[in-house]
Amino acid sequence: MSASAHVATNERVAEVTADVIAALHEVLERHQVTEAEWLAALAYLTEVGRHDEFVLLSDVTRTSVLIDALSHQAEDPDVTASDVEGPLYRDDPPWRERPVKIYEEYEGMGDGDVLFVSGRVTSSDGSPLPGAVIDIWQTGPDGGYDLWDSRQPAYNFRGRFGVDESGAYEFQTMLPRPYTVPTDGPVGRYLEMVGQHPWRPAHIHFKIEADGHERLVTQVFFPDDPYLENDTIGAVKPALVRAVTRHEDEEELAQRGLDSPFCTCAFDIRLRPAARA
Ligand code: BEZ
Ligand code: FE
Repeated sequence: MSASAHVATNERVAEVTADVIAALHEVLERHQVTEAEWLAALAYLTEVGRHDEFVLLSDVTRTSVLIDALSHQAEDPDVTASDVEGPLYRDDPPWRERPVKIYEEYEGMGDGDVLFVSGRVTSSDGSPLPGAVIDIWQTGPDGGYDLWDSRQPAYNFRGRFGVDESGAYEFQTMLPRPYTVPTDGPVGRYLEMVGQHPWRPAHIHFKIEADGHERLVTQVFFPDDPYLENDTIGAVKPALVRAVTRHEDEEELAQRGLDSPFCTCAFDIRLRPAARA
């Protein structure tokens, strides 16, 4: 047996990293990077790992958006556009029974509008997917995730739920607000050094699964947000911006059991059938 037969290589890794290294060397040469600068860069990346911020770094450098675009067929009008997941998904969110409400009020909760999001989950040909499961995570009216805000119950503004026989769903939440990605760690220092603001437009994250279909991870945005054109992770897609309607009519409020105006937003979801093996 020859010596090379003992070496198990991964061709894909070998091919891609060879190009990564060539590109890196070219940049280091072009900028005449010094030994001290290179060691500082390595120490910085070590810190990013220690703080578990590599996904965040990928997001704010808009690398996650590029990978999303490379991984999903662009602009297919028959399916809902995908978007990046970000680092704030939590495993094992609670199952929410109908009528679905994904939050509890908490001490000191900021003012905001109740929002009902509804739509249908279908296949790309429009046929309903009654077995679909929707998983939501978002910030509330204070602009903070449950993970960052000790006043909120665990898993607040998160939850999984099913759809009905026609693929229809509705859930009650509150209109989210723009917020900043975490800035207290090494990625926050990077943003400051390069002069990039940390804000994201208000959005709701969706993860949808249905048998025989590709899983979809996406986000919904709202018009007139000050950061719609200037998301720090560059993840806004025009196809994912959905109108919000405000309802002030007394009868509608009574039907919903509410005593102040509320908002609605429609978001139909079309999934791509999985490729057959
Ligand atoms: C988010 O939308 O949850 C998010 C995305 C990227 C970085 C931080 C947060
Ligand atoms: Fe988010």
